[in-house]
Amino acid sequence: ILEILLKGLHRLEYRGYDSSGVGIDGGNGKDWETNAKSIQLIKQRGKVKALDEEIDSKPKQQDVDLDVEFDVHLGIAHTRWATHGVPSAVNSHPQRSDKNNEFIVIHNGIITNYKDLRKFLESKDYEFESETDTETIAKLVKYMFDNRENDDISFATLVEQTTRLLEGAFALVFKSVHYPGEAVGTRRGSPLLMGVRSDHKLSSDHIPVLYSSGKLQLQFLIIDSYVRLQKSTKDKKGCGAIARMEQDTCLFPVDEKAVEYYFASDASAVIEHTNRVIFLEDDDVAAVREGRLSIHRIKRTAGDYPARAIQTLQMELQQIMKGNFSSFMQKEIFEQPESVVNTMRGRINFDNNTVILGGLKDHIKEIQRCRRLILIACGTSYHAGVATRQVLEELTELPVMVELASDFLDRNTPVFRDDVCFFISQSGETADSLMALHYCKERGALTVGITNTVGSSISRETDCGVHINAGPEIGVASTKAYTSQFVALIMFALLMCDDRISVQPRRREIIQGLRVLPDLIKEVLSLDDEIQKLATELYQQKSVLIMGRGYHYATCLEGALKIKEITYMHSEGILAGELKHGPLALVDKLMPVIMIIMRDHTYVKCQNALQQIVARQGRPIVICDKDDFETAKNSSRTINVPHCVDCLQGVLSVIPLQLLSFHLAVLRGYDVDCPRNLAKSVTVE
Ligand code: G6P
Repeated sequence: ILEILLKGLHRLEYRGYDSSGVGIDGGNGKDWETNAKSIQLIKQRGKVKALDEEIDSKPKQQDVDLDVEFDVHLGIAHTRWATHGVPSAVNSHPQRSDKNNEFIVIHNGIITNYKDLRKFLESKDYEFESETDTETIAKLVKYMFDNRENDDISFATLVEQTTRLLEGAFALVFKSVHYPGEAVGTRRGSPLLMGVRSDHKLSSDHIPVLYSSGKLQLQFLIIDSYVRLQKSTKDKKGCGAIARMEQDTCLFPVDEKAVEYYFASDASAVIEHTNRVIFLEDDDVAAVREGRLSIHRIKRTAGDYPARAIQTLQMELQQIMKGNFSSFMQKEIFEQPESVVNTMRGRINFDNNTVILGGLKDHIKEIQRCRRLILIACGTSYHAGVATRQVLEELTELPVMVELASDFLDRNTPVFRDDVCFFISQSGETADSLMALHYCKERGALTVGITNTVGSSISRETDCGVHINAGPEIGVASTKAYTSQFVALIMFALLMCDDRISVQPRRREIIQGLRVLPDLIKEVLSLDDEIQKLATELYQQKSVLIMGRGYHYATCLEGALKIKEITYMHSEGILAGELKHGPLALVDKLMPVIMIIMRDHTYVKCQNALQQIVARQGRPIVICDKDDFETAKNSSRTINVPHCVDCLQGVLSVIPLQLLSFHLAVLRGYDVDCPRNLAKSVTVE
């Protein structure tokens, strides 16, 4: 189990990697039940590898056989991205209730009222050891236990009582010496799913929810948690019997064979064990004990379906392995010819120029009647909105706003019932985007999700949407998700105007452009050696400016973001139209400048910008069409990309910058997949 926990943590590492820890059955007695009456914590600062090494060194130090030392029936593990408290062993999770480790918890998210809770608990003589908000939860659950009215209180009820007092967002998994062999997980605002593995028939493919009475405060909250519980095949003590007693309240194996449950923040941690998962809803409390899983809720709320289905995921293990590439990011860049095909698969008929988006079909008429489109996102996903805004405006003839989720909320932006709001998010879990989604729903707008993660909060909470089907993206710097979001939004634009006769020639042109796009992406990827060479010339620089306009402004922003994220160089994406209003002052013969100049309606203006740079002794490197000799004349170097339809050209122009940032980071000696201070899935505000 320990091995599986560690492997799971490695798989989740992209979500956070400044420290990690495990909490497992701690005794070294004869059977697991005795062992589970104590808990052993092992925590380490740094990446999961450091934890791995620490665990490896333990049995050796004590000269004890690994199996005996760690006879584990249940364990929880966590890899952290610090919010409260510096990365350190004591601040890493699991956090504990007391020195005897009576209760331990792993947490993703932020508890916003932790200061008040901590003050209260300190007044009751609970001693704190870390600077984390999470420790409050561990102490609070013990407080609930110490002050229980009923000796038979279940672990799930205890957790329910504890989370009622928490404000913020969380996914939590608990383990306790008082409940040997039992794990309880719950969420509010942060992702948490359960993997279910059984080689045998299960009692059902749905788990009925158990409702208790009581009042629930509605707030919300996050983790990179992973827990596994195994019902041993040798243990005859009785799933069968228990199953008969509680037939309609839990999931269990129909015979007495093994069933294993896993809790995890996302499916990549469990996919090598099972592709059957249950996505927990906010305020579900899932308890696993003796091979049984039950899901509890305080009470039924509007829209809550009284059962949770076991879903079968299409994800393959191989999709989350690096293969022959040196990093996930590199693999994902090179996957783009296939990932964009996967985005279009089954949705475009290139022979009769039709587009079908199944996830929108019930709402498309309403969307066509709306008064404006608002695209809301963060980071790279925001850039996908910027990249496609123009073609959306052109083909829908609607006003289109593109908004950074945080700023959109800060401004209390007016939203109306006849607005359609798009939430673009690779993970589908970004806290700011999710909050903006709640904000728009409250105001009655129709909401549309453009996500890469089936079962994610955004895909579940929006009225309708499009899964981009790019496959799991692990590298923190997003690449293939960007190009797939781009293509998904283009398909939406095409769908919006499918019955407008005047735009049919343009529609056909774009659809035929999409047909050849994968081959053109391959052609751009073949520039890899050339770009690596360019990187060797640039990697010692401090700064890179990236300039362009029109369809390629988004490429500038996205290219600069890639460089910042993984090379730690300063980089700025500059709208070439704004050059003379400030940025030109930065240009001299030393400043590295990359320009994007394609043969579209901004070509002449871009040539002017190029002249202005050259006149200040700048020596621009230009990404341009492959036969553009005019531009080549004025550039110190060109990167030649194949030509395609203007509004799709951004899919091609961004790839040299993805490659460049990758090579720069490698040359500068940085970890491409795990850039400092960043995390892939930002589930905190
Ligand atoms: C983080 C990631 C970025 C990503 C952004 C939005 O900042 O590091 O790569 O673009 O979040 O994430 P989302 O999952 O909503 O697309």
